[in-house]
Amino acid sequence: MKAVYKRVLIKLSGEALASGKGFGLHQETVDEVSRQICMVASDGVETAIVVGGGNIWRGRSGEGMDRVTADYMGMLATTINALALQDSIERQGHEVRVQSAIAMQEICEPYIRRRAVRHLEKGRVVVFAAGIGSPYFSTDTAAALRAIEIEAEIILSAKNVDGVYSDDPNLNPNAIKYDTLSYEEVIKGSLRAIDATAATLCRDNNLPLLVFSLAKPSNIFDAVCGINVGTYISNS
Ligand code: GTP
Repeated sequence: MKAVYKRVLIKLSGEALASGKGFGLHQETVDEVSRQICMVASDGVETAIVVGGGNIWRGRSGEGMDRVTADYMGMLATTINALALQDSIERQGHEVRVQSAIAMQEICEPYIRRRAVRHLEKGRVVVFAAGIGSPYFSTDTAAALRAIEIEAEIILSAKNVDGVYSDDPNLNPNAIKYDTLSYEEVIKGSLRAIDATAATLCRDNNLPLLVFSLAKPSNIFDAVCGINVGTYISNS
């Protein structure tokens, strides 16, 4: 199989790195995901990553806490995951750079769009940490924004569900899985594929999104080869 995209942004949910434990980092899972990322990048696909932080901390888990503080803690959680990915990708022999939306220059580079694009052109994987650096925005929105900025052709959103359903498949056994959806359907139907801010950004900038499960890590490579391994969302 051959890759059909030249530049992609992979959105990894934090939970997907925790494996069955749901919390923290499961090293074997991180290594397996990184192996797939390296396969994609080695195939010549320019690969950027946005990773969530839900395996460590979620803004909304800070009950009673100041929302802005809780969100900043979430951004730090995404940075921990970004460094874990950097370590694993590097150990597997591929060049990688982490860029953070919040300055922490002792730890990683600051986010500089032109520099990120240069890294991608040189074949390096670029991991974007700390969301967009502002509270009240999700890492889905960070993925949409960064993908648009770097002119990625698609967002590949790897989650712990295998696509978008009409209802929560864990609670409703009759929930139907969609193969394709339009952004209008996602936004109007309040389908929980991606939050509304991110969906609107993708719609307005005509950026497609593929939602799929990381339970089968080979899905990442298959997705880059143009196979619909979950639910494909676009404007058409
Ligand atoms: P080229 O200039 O294209 O060769 O890119 P490069 O990233 O290899 O060059 P550079 O000399 O900028 O970076 C060398 C190493 O330092 C890389 O691992 C970068 O990720 C890292 N680095 C660069 N800038 C910063 C920074 O501001 N903070 C931290 N912590 N690391 C940085």
